[in-house]
Amino acid sequence: MLPSIPVLADYGISPTHGFLPDVLPLTRLPDPYYNKWEAIVANLQGLILSRRLRGVVDRLPVLSTIGLEHDAEWRRAYMLLCFMAHGYIWGGDSPSDRLPAPISVPLLEIAEHLEVPPVATYAAVCLWNFKPLFMDEEIDNLENLATLTTFTGSLDESWFYLVSVAMEARGAPIIPLMLTAIAAAREDDATTVTSCLNTFAERVDDLSALLQRMHESCDPHIFYHRIRPFLAGSKNMADAGLPQGVIYEDGSGNETYRQYAGGSNAQSSLFQFFDIVLGIEHRPTGEKKATSGEEAERQGRAPPPNHNFISEMRRYMPGPHARFLGDVQAVANLRGYVERNSANRPLAVAYDACLSMLRSLRDRHIAIVTRYIVIPSREVRARSRSPETTRRRVNLATGSRQRAPGIAYHAEEPDAANGGKKNLKGTGGTALISFLKQARDETGEPAVEEWTKRFMSRRPRAEGQGDFFAGKPEEGAGLEVVADTEEVTMPGLAGSWTMDDDVGGICNY
Ligand code: HEM
Repeated sequence: MLPSIPVLADYGISPTHGFLPDVLPLTRLPDPYYNKWEAIVANLQGLILSRRLRGVVDRLPVLSTIGLEHDAEWRRAYMLLCFMAHGYIWGGDSPSDRLPAPISVPLLEIAEHLEVPPVATYAAVCLWNFKPLFMDEEIDNLENLATLTTFTGSLDESWFYLVSVAMEARGAPIIPLMLTAIAAAREDDATTVTSCLNTFAERVDDLSALLQRMHESCDPHIFYHRIRPFLAGSKNMADAGLPQGVIYEDGSGNETYRQYAGGSNAQSSLFQFFDIVLGIEHRPTGEKKATSGEEAERQGRAPPPNHNFISEMRRYMPGPHARFLGDVQAVANLRGYVERNSANRPLAVAYDACLSMLRSLRDRHIAIVTRYIVIPSREVRARSRSPETTRRRVNLATGSRQRAPGIAYHAEEPDAANGGKKNLKGTGGTALISFLKQARDETGEPAVEEWTKRFMSRRPRAEGQGDFFAGKPEEGAGLEVVADTEEVTMPGLAGSWTMDDDVGGICNY
């Protein structure tokens, strides 16, 4: 017997808002018992800027969760405490490796209740942190969205979260649509499957357009230097000053260090849903696709365990959403259905169009990561080597380090007191852009049509390289050439990555 197709209501997933809550996030906890939390978050940016947040939190009483009733209240409480927690950890001269009981005790309880980790996940900063400006307008429109809170108070930070919110809302109808497609494939109803796939492809194109709007109001330098540091977790954060992670104090005296990844859009259930429903498989990073010979040899044996960053991120999604993904995986049949019916051209073309649109969205995302993370991190590196910085290092050698208020600097920031050497080290980690490119390339792999297969596996040629006007490329300057020999740790959002130089800038994909 086939497993039954998941029903959205069983996982708290909205047929109209998808992974965003059906009931809009609360703008305030109704019980005045929680006024102190609300007051801190209402003044979060000022408290971080004046470096008074830690003192205020330390003096807070440990509030109970007894006053939280509906799910929306638990979600608001989680969001408030996550913002306070990350403000507390990262909003000082150096990070705090202890979260005091007034935050950690309720946060641990609430996280358990909601089945999320006790850190600022994508759910805390995006899914449960928005409001519509006009109640009678849709929330899939960036012009109708505002955030409830931010660390910095900047428009850039709000925009960074809201682009994701709008994408979640615009993508939401794809979820019931594709469950219908799965049911139709079971019934061998190719017409319905084709029509669902066509609509999916068009919607993903809409999502790409929304993603592209990131450039409108989120400045890469503000993102890199001001926003990203607050989203950092406690895993692989030795260089940032958290060698063991963070202690969540509960007053028992038996607490041990905990380590969690930081918030990242890789924790979006929507994108993992797309991959699952289309039968896209992500291999462990660095692993190549098996050849047809290896595939044949593997027939009849269980597939290798799928450990990669993308699947690890499921642990950072709200529990019911992660369970939904697992259950959809058990019924995903579209790839097999299309392969078995590859002679049905409209069906095959519709399926390939979905892959192609999703691949192109990942292309745009790579360009964004290049502009918002890779380029600013290179600039920091270049500055750390400049004669000016070297002079300043000498001048600073006897003095203390000067830092922008309220920001605990991260791994790749050159350590002036250490001759800028501290972070230039081999890590054996994964290269960020290589990881993202692999995810992009895997998106195209299941294509059915010969033409699409060829189109999606083509190597991009860098604009203006090796042509008549640009002349011959300098040796080693090609797009896919890794020229740099030193490895530099580069914190992404949830992951800690090595810097790879196989990127040529934002337009080169
Ligand atoms: C300034 C904007 C953005 C930056 C700098 C950025 C950066 C990153 C980074 C560094 C990663 C690697 C994992 C990590 O370290 O967390 C990642 C992965 C990912 N991001 Fe983004 N991201 C941005 C916007 C978005 C948006 C708006 C979405 C969609 C809602 C998105 C979806 C994803 C997904 C799905 C992954 C997992 C890799 C994949 O499936 O291809 N990102 N992002």
